[in-house]
Amino acid sequence: MLGRQLAQLKRGIHFVAPEAKWKKPVRVSITGAAGNIGYAVAFRVANGEMLGPDQPVILHLIDLPFAEEKLRGLRMELDDCAFPLLHGIVTTSDQSVGFKDTNFNLLIGSKPRGPGMERADLLKDNGKIFVDTGKAINDHSARDVKTLVVGNPANTNCLIAAHYAKDLPRENFHAMTRLDHDRGLSQLAAKLGVKTTAIEKFCVWGNHSSTMYPDTHHTLVGGKQIHSTLGAEWINKDFIPVVQQRGAAIIKARGLSSAASAGNAAISHVRDWVTGTNGTWTSFSVPTDGSYGVPKGLIFSFPVTVANGKYSIVQGLTITPEAQERINTTTNELTEERRAVEGLLN
Ligand code: LMR
Repeated sequence: MLGRQLAQLKRGIHFVAPEAKWKKPVRVSITGAAGNIGYAVAFRVANGEMLGPDQPVILHLIDLPFAEEKLRGLRMELDDCAFPLLHGIVTTSDQSVGFKDTNFNLLIGSKPRGPGMERADLLKDNGKIFVDTGKAINDHSARDVKTLVVGNPANTNCLIAAHYAKDLPRENFHAMTRLDHDRGLSQLAAKLGVKTTAIEKFCVWGNHSSTMYPDTHHTLVGGKQIHSTLGAEWINKDFIPVVQQRGAAIIKARGLSSAASAGNAAISHVRDWVTGTNGTWTSFSVPTDGSYGVPKGLIFSFPVTVANGKYSIVQGLTITPEAQERINTTTNELTEERRAVEGLLN
């Protein structure tokens, strides 16, 4: 029964499982909860869209002291929804309270980039935040906590947080490239006139930045390769730049960075991490282990499958010289980012 309900949930149909089937509540922290992405995420987590219709949650809404009043308003709105699965709300600016016993951390809080900035321009300001956050997670979260970094530059922020969470498994620290993955799927679906669900084996390599590599070499629709059908001209001149620059295009159009789509991607990432991908691929930015020659010590997006709460990097793919060049470019950028925050990684 729950299997069918989960499948419905994945298609966006709302329901809650009968109370008798509910699991023990889990604690989910959201940093930057008073911001736009926090607002887009909190209600959906409380509604069971991230962890399932049988999983009650206690939300830990964390933000800076100046945002206290906004957090109070968010809490009032959450209360007013009377979500059956929402079993408690903690609002705080104190990280030792915010991360206390949390099972999932959504690290969204950071200074967003403005028009004309690259995400790496935020390194110095945002990197420091993740030192304290990593320490607080290490000291207070559950030992098997799963942490997803959304705040930019997400990969390097994640590296910093994982570095300071010394007692916790590194593989439980991810950065989000699911938004780029979904952006890629959507562009491909529009080009090919198919649904996004018809597309298999698409992935994003590298950094959540303009060097990321959305890769169609292995991609199938109806079991058939589409890379050559799409053609090098469209892939290189349209598809890759559109996906790489989508965040900037949204900032230009909205005057604000993406919020609802970023929140949606965070929910999808964690949901796949918990429920698995049934053998299908998604893209996770995870600690490097030497796969595909990417040096250890980075947080890098790979094609992954997920089962039983654990991801596996898809192995054995043939990488063309052109793809390798793009992978090298994004690897070099991440290495540079790490060098820029070396002082924070002692
Ligand atoms: C995005 O990709 O939309 C976000 O990371 C915001 C940004 O700075 O691009």
